[in-house]
Amino acid sequence: MSDFIYRFIPGKGERTLLLLHGTGGNEADLLPLGFAIAPDASLLSPRGKVLENGASRFFRRLAEGVFDEEDVIERANELAEFVSSAARKYDFDLNALIMVGYSNGANIASAMLLLGALKARGAILFRPMVPLSRPPEHPLDDCEVLISGGRFDQIATPDQVNALVDLLRERRARVDVRMQEGGHELNDRDVKTARDWLAPSAVA
Ligand code: MLT
Repeated sequence: MSDFIYRFIPGKGERTLLLLHGTGGNEADLLPLGFAIAPDASLLSPRGKVLENGASRFFRRLAEGVFDEEDVIERANELAEFVSSAARKYDFDLNALIMVGYSNGANIASAMLLLGALKARGAILFRPMVPLSRPPEHPLDDCEVLISGGRFDQIATPDQVNALVDLLRERRARVDVRMQEGGHELNDRDVKTARDWLAPSAVA
């Protein structure tokens, strides 16, 4: 397996959550969120390999909100390979994988989806942006996506969220959008929204 630092916590259920932290986070950050939204799921949580002034990220950026798209593509493919080899090592089903990303983690998750780099059952994207300006036309039928944005988010603005929703829907992903009364930080409503969306009746 490629050299990501990561945590894997086996769960009792069929599902695995791929937890992808935001800039400056690490592999421990989203574990409590994972337990809170899907207590029976296995959790796979890698640490982003790019360092920006000591802060871990999943891909390089040229400035705030300006992404190095070549690097986005390279890192998305590398991360997808890591997840596939983790699935073989820990024997979990990629068809039952849900990506759960926050901010920079949401952006690498949607890059993997748009590029068709990783097959997944669905994704929960907290405060996402558009990761690629001209993504390929890879179809996303059968992929269910929950987007939780912040109405007052100055980084992942509502315009960015809407543009990403359009890209995903154009590729036939089923997208639910919830705009929270907040900014870029996660809050209790995000956790409740994700937990309810993951409840067995929504995504089996
Ligand atoms: C990114 O760089 O992916 C976004 O600007 C979100 C962030 O990490 O600040």
